[in-house]
Amino acid sequence: MAEFKKFALPLLEDLENELKSLGLSLPISQNTFILGDEVDLGKWKLPNRFIVQPMEGIDGDPADSSPSELTFRRYRRFAEGGAGLIWFEAVVVEPEGKSNPRQLMITRENLDVWKRLVDETREAARKKWGHEIVTIIQIAHSGRWSKPDGNPKPVLIHHNPQLDRAVHVDNSYPLVSDDVLDLLQDKFIDVCKLAAQAGFDGIEFKAVHGYFTGEMLCAYTREGKYGGSYENRTRFVRECTARIADSFDSNHFVTARLTMYEPSPFPYGWGVKAEAGSSELDLTEPLKFARELVDSADMPLFNYSIGYPRFGPYITRPYNNPISGVALPPEHPLEGIVRFQQIGKILQGVLGEIPVATAALGWLRHHFPYVAAGLVEQGWITLIGQGRGSIAYPDSVEDILKTGTMNPRKCCITCSLCSQIMKDVVGRIGCPVRDGEIYKPELQKGRASARLKGLA
Ligand SMILES: Cc1cc2nc3c(=O)[nH]c(=O)nc-3n(C[C@H](O)[C@H](O)[C@H](O)COP(=O)(O)O)c2cc1C
Ligand code: SF4
Repeated sequence: MAEFKKFALPLLEDLENELKSLGLSLPISQNTFILGDEVDLGKWKLPNRFIVQPMEGIDGDPADSSPSELTFRRYRRFAEGGAGLIWFEAVVVEPEGKSNPRQLMITRENLDVWKRLVDETREAARKKWGHEIVTIIQIAHSGRWSKPDGNPKPVLIHHNPQLDRAVHVDNSYPLVSDDVLDLLQDKFIDVCKLAAQAGFDGIEFKAVHGYFTGEMLCAYTREGKYGGSYENRTRFVRECTARIADSFDSNHFVTARLTMYEPSPFPYGWGVKAEAGSSELDLTEPLKFARELVDSADMPLFNYSIGYPRFGPYITRPYNNPISGVALPPEHPLEGIVRFQQIGKILQGVLGEIPVATAALGWLRHHFPYVAAGLVEQGWITLIGQGRGSIAYPDSVEDILKTGTMNPRKCCITCSLCSQIMKDVVGRIGCPVRDGEIYKPELQKGRASARLKGLA
């Protein structure tokens, strides 16, 4: 691993030299027009290769968990920005699974608000671009990281000593039972059906970032039908996927954002070598599961991520600054970017004809379009996702499509302040740096509350 460094690469040749000096390689191309290609998803067409990756805004109405005016604003900005696919953020299937009191839920009672959100988001894209976007929603449960009333209320699938310490529980903390998991499958299915009624084209079960369904994949030490063998650990996602795919008509699809690597030492991780204590990457199971999911549900596209953002976040989203109290990453951000993209290349190779979406390119700032174009041109990946970039610079897609460049003054600076808002629980998430009028006060509210609790 090379030493951590902040971004100081004003020119594209600086990036090329930095990669060379680290012995790393990433494809780079000036042919950014390739990013404007239409992408065929069978019945659906994407007007370009850009996707907005799911980004929790925790700005729902706490009374009924419905989207608020700020939620509408976020999605309108994404749609006007130009991305062909908007992957809506994690919405949870029950109040106990919220990561924050204002996390969104789709319920029978608030379905009309969701219908309006999907309609208005589509309409904003039509009005600005004259194109139809594809919409997907991520169905989730926060599991270990649940904070339904703002305080930790972990729902554990298995005991992982490292992550148990992170949520301040020990081996005596009860695991969620198989019976409850069976009932939760029904809740996931019910919410998927509501999401289809709300107008989403696709749904996805969030199986990334150490949340509930991601953690299931790691549950080697759990007893019963949801733990131990590959078959059991993948059961929840596999069965939910099959059930919802069977119940959907041809106007809706199921897809996945699957974790390819949860880097806890074996037997607590996923995508790690099956040797006691090893957290070395081994993609055998993740690739096998990705192929099975795609085939079983006829998925038109696939999304992935890696790592636990709440524990070793530099793996999920290489950055310049950690959130308060977190040590600097043990590696150069470019090493993290290359790891993420190489996994995407292997996954795209295995899934062949199915478009795979990448992320985690935010640290590259205004060099993002050239690396994105290189990845596509050299066949590493098909779809280009932005997470933090979408909230910092929602019209970056417009700038790239029209000029082939990004404005460095508008780029995300990977400062982690949006993640800080999330960690502090109190504020609503957006970009305090590039959208400061609204989100600086949200950051400050969270920081003040953390100081009061002695957590800042
Ligand atoms: C504040 C914040 C909220 C996020 N919310 C979600 C989410 O709801 N679901 C998800 O799968 N990933 C979520 N992510 C991860 C992003 O989708 C993305 O994978 C990550 O930020 C790395 O990509 P980037 O470099 O383009 O930001 C979130 C990230 C941040 C910083
Ligand atoms: S707060 Fe804004 S600039 Fe900082 S990481 Fe988040 S999106 Fe990027």
